[in-house]
Amino acid sequence: MRAKRIVLAQRPKGLPTTSDFRYEEFDLPSLQDGQVLLESLYLSVDPYMRGRMNDQKSYVAPYNLNEAIAGGVIGRVLESRSAQFSEGDLALAGYGWQTHQVENDKNLRKIDPQIGPITTSLGVLGMTGLTAYFGLQDIGKPQPGETVVVSGAAGAVGMVVGQIAKLKGARAVGIAGTKEKCDYLVKQLGFDAAVNYKDADFREKLNNACKDGVDVYFDNVGSDVSDAVLRLINRGARIVVCGQISLYNLEEPVASTPIPSLLLINSAIMQGFTVGNYAGRFAEGLTALAEFVREGQVKYEETMVEGFDRTIDAFLMLFSGENTGKMLVKVVR
Ligand SMILES: NC(=O)c1ccc[n+]([C@@H]2O[C@H](COP(=O)([O-])OP(=O)(O)OC[C@H]3O[C@@H](n4cnc5c(N)ncnc54)[C@H](OP(=O)(O)O)[C@@H]3O)[C@@H](O)[C@H]2O)c1
Repeated sequence: MRAKRIVLAQRPKGLPTTSDFRYEEFDLPSLQDGQVLLESLYLSVDPYMRGRMNDQKSYVAPYNLNEAIAGGVIGRVLESRSAQFSEGDLALAGYGWQTHQVENDKNLRKIDPQIGPITTSLGVLGMTGLTAYFGLQDIGKPQPGETVVVSGAAGAVGMVVGQIAKLKGARAVGIAGTKEKCDYLVKQLGFDAAVNYKDADFREKLNNACKDGVDVYFDNVGSDVSDAVLRLINRGARIVVCGQISLYNLEEPVASTPIPSLLLINSAIMQGFTVGNYAGRFAEGLTALAEFVREGQVKYEETMVEGFDRTIDAFLMLFSGENTGKMLVKVVR
């Protein structure tokens, strides 16, 4: 059987362009025992993928040139030679930007459509929800009455961070890139305040939103936004370094905030993490997140781009902020 995939054609310089990728057809191998043939229904596009396009040391290996961009996929089983999966079953896989794949069953997790819309397994009940859940609680440790600031607040990770902060009794202050996103955070998700980092008076508005300083900063974006927040931290603050999206397309390093001095002055801690650190606790996180969603305590949003041929567009839209919540691709229009 022929399938389609998107491969990395060359390593991007700065913001990727369509010419850094190539759509191609390929032959799927025949099915062996313990394998299933999957048809991709939804693909995940994520900021971390940009880092894997560079040939540099990181927490995951770089993508190889001329190989498909790996990432989260929801697939439906078309044929099975596995005792674990039957035709029609839904599975979470990691093979990435392809229309079909022959996959070993041990690389798949079955999706139960009873738990919620299946797309949530790539978002709030998947990688991004777990990132928010563990990063905020394990490192941020928000306490009642404290102020938690989250950047990238209207994105997949950020919106869950703010809502869990509220559940812990903290004040949630979001930072996002449009007025509509800020209004959404406050009016729909119950954030106490939200500030647009593109406003000329961003720093003044942030100071007003954090009158008692900042106890927890969950950083998804880095650079100027983080500089503004770090200057407001309180004694004993916890800074959770989850992502630095504003840096991912830069070719030259930028001058950074004098972070050691700020940590020293405030006896604060700063810790980076990746969600994979918590792999042994994913079941616990997913159970808790599913309960939050079922009870309406955590709401979520998805931005769906339709068509496999629009996968690269969807990926690039992450860097221009065109998504609210989890950015996904519906493979077949
Ligand atoms: N540590 C981990 O294990 C882990 C796991 C998942 C994700 N992450 C990181 O968490 C962050 C959020 O990921 P996500 O999947 O939830 O993506 P997302 O927030 O849903 O999407 C990216 C958002 O980033 C904002 N953005 C883009 N360029 C920016 C810039 N130059 N300055 C400020 N904001 C910018 C845009 O929103 P605006 O409209 O607000 O600009 C955009 O919507 C990323 O940095 C990602 O790498 C880390």
